Amino acid sequence: MIEKINALKAEIESATASTAAEAEALRIRYLSKKGEISLLMNDFRTVPAEMKRAIGQALNELKNLATDKINSLKEAAESKSTGCEGIDLSRTAAPWKIGTRHPLSLVREEIIDIFRRLGFTVAEGPEVEDDWHVFSSLNFAADHPARDMQDTFFIKREPDVLLRTHTSSVQSRVMEAGQPPIRIICPGRVYRNEAISARAHCFFHQVEALYVDKNVTFADLRQTLLYFAQEMFGKDTKIRLRPSYFPFTEPSAEMDISCDLCGGKGCGFCKHTGWVEILGCGMVDPNVLEACGIDSKVYSGFALGMGIERITNLKYRVSDLRLFSENDVRFLEEFESAR
Ligand code: DAH
Repeated sequence: MIEKINALKAEIESATASTAAEAEALRIRYLSKKGEISLLMNDFRTVPAEMKRAIGQALNELKNLATDKINSLKEAAESKSTGCEGIDLSRTAAPWKIGTRHPLSLVREEIIDIFRRLGFTVAEGPEVEDDWHVFSSLNFAADHPARDMQDTFFIKREPDVLLRTHTSSVQSRVMEAGQPPIRIICPGRVYRNEAISARAHCFFHQVEALYVDKNVTFADLRQTLLYFAQEMFGKDTKIRLRPSYFPFTEPSAEMDISCDLCGGKGCGFCKHTGWVEILGCGMVDPNVLEACGIDSKVYSGFALGMGIERITNLKYRVSDLRLFSENDVRFLEEFESAR
């Protein structure tokens, strides 16, 4: 019997199985009720008493060996069929390409950041607007040319539904919704009926700022503008305010900054003036405060509005406005990655 046990031991040790089914066949052959090892176990009864101990031990060892061996063959065969063989998990991953941020987003965030440091919070309004918020509440005369079909995209007439032509519409929405102090910055897309060229587009982006409280003066506006210009374009930047006209501010001004290309000496970029225009601003017209439910005898305020494309052009010298909306990856890849 001991020879039979040793023969089976050798057989099992050298057994192989390349599929789970083959491993199962081995189990049936050796370990099932009528398997070879089970049959030997049955014969154990006939072993003489003095040999029972040694043979019993050898039989048990054989059974354990067979169970372990067949289980591990089965496991190996099953793991093969998961389709994971040949995958080296210790390998470094292929480099993952990180996208870049759109230049207009970078500049918008930078503008918001600067005003946030002065206590302004972001406010937003709808792009599809009505006449009241875009024009009437902002003191536009009934026959103001900006209402004309040439400039404004009308979706519907009477009552007028239109695409906002400036983010100043958010001013009136915020003033209608609550009383001062108001200190908001409103970024957003605006639309105008312009032929698309390198210098004009039918949509672009603006940032509007509005500050209304007791005793807000033109000096507050000027200091805010100087802070903004120097944070955005560098500590040596100078500003210049020129009188201008907007229906919603009185007095109104346009702000120039010193040309950072020529340091103010005059060059092609600043048309040899040493200055480049960047935004419109002024003290909120009392008519606007009243139209939005704010007492103009108690409160005053300033407002300013700028084009994000304009600021981006100054920072990055983008020569053609169309690049901003064409999604050419060669252009977009030149800007900072998303973090
Ligand atoms: N809304 C003006 C525009 O689209 C820009 C502007 C000018 C906004 C003066 C203002 C402002 O708030 O005070 O051209």
